[in-house]
Amino acid sequence: MLEACELSKAYGANLALNALNLRVAPGEIFCLLGANGAGKTTTIHLFLNFIAPSVGVARIGGFDVSRDTGQARQMVAYLPENVALYPRLSGVENLDYFSRLSGHRYAKKQLRNFLMAAGLLEEAADKPVANYSKGMRQKVGIAIACAKEAKVLLLDEPTSGLDPQASYEFSNLLRTLADSGVAILMATHDLFRVKESGHRAGIMKGGKMLTVLNTGEISAAELERIYLQYMQAGLHVAEAAL
Ligand SMILES: Nc1ncnc2c1ncn2[C@@H]1O[C@H](COP(=O)(O)OP(=O)(O)OP(=O)(O)O)[C@@H](O)[C@H]1O
Ligand SMILES: [Mg+2]
Repeated sequence: MLEACELSKAYGANLALNALNLRVAPGEIFCLLGANGAGKTTTIHLFLNFIAPSVGVARIGGFDVSRDTGQARQMVAYLPENVALYPRLSGVENLDYFSRLSGHRYAKKQLRNFLMAAGLLEEAADKPVANYSKGMRQKVGIAIACAKEAKVLLLDEPTSGLDPQASYEFSNLLRTLADSGVAILMATHDLFRVKESGHRAGIMKGGKMLTVLNTGEISAAELERIYLQYMQAGLHVAEAAL
């Protein structure tokens, strides 16, 4: 569903992404881990065709995102770290607006259901988004992504700013979406949530994918240990510890 082949992005001499090869299947949650500047956002932006690759191809549903941008975009919902909404509109009105943009017309009741499924409290749904907390705006963003009924979900640090319960509910929602066949690629620093909701986790450093782990085979503590070893040591040392 989601595929990167030798995907690379150079900014001058800086290789922000270095020959990434990755496939995310329908129903799979793949988490991108790595220090600040590792290349996670670059990867997501390449899949969205916000930036053009220096080398390689990003495909969504078989469509090359640089060439068949329209078809690829239609299949994707994107949730950035800070969701941009219209502050004077309510949660319901924002969701209605963005759903229409993606070709969906929902009844008010359905719009509310999307918002509640994303964890927004019912009484907040009709209030202007300007008065929402960051977590509440994030939930509207999640509802917008769900209402688009996209086959692919790209998320860049979606749980930063969510309280632990919201983060837990968010993970459950991701699992439900994956169970319905959505392919999910998520950049995150939340190792615990990676273990809870991800199927696979890739550890990135300096634009390179160093290793890919099956989260079902390791504990959260092991994931943290392996992650830290990759961050602190050279590649070969971390490999020896696996
Ligand atoms: N527009 C740009 N111009 C030049 N260099 C850039 C640009 N965008 C990103 N980079 C560089 O690309 C590298 C990867 O950045 P990226 O934003 O992908 O990291 P990240 O893994 O998302 O980090 P974070 O955890 O801080 O979000 C960094 O070295 C960064 O400085
Ligand atoms: Mg980033």
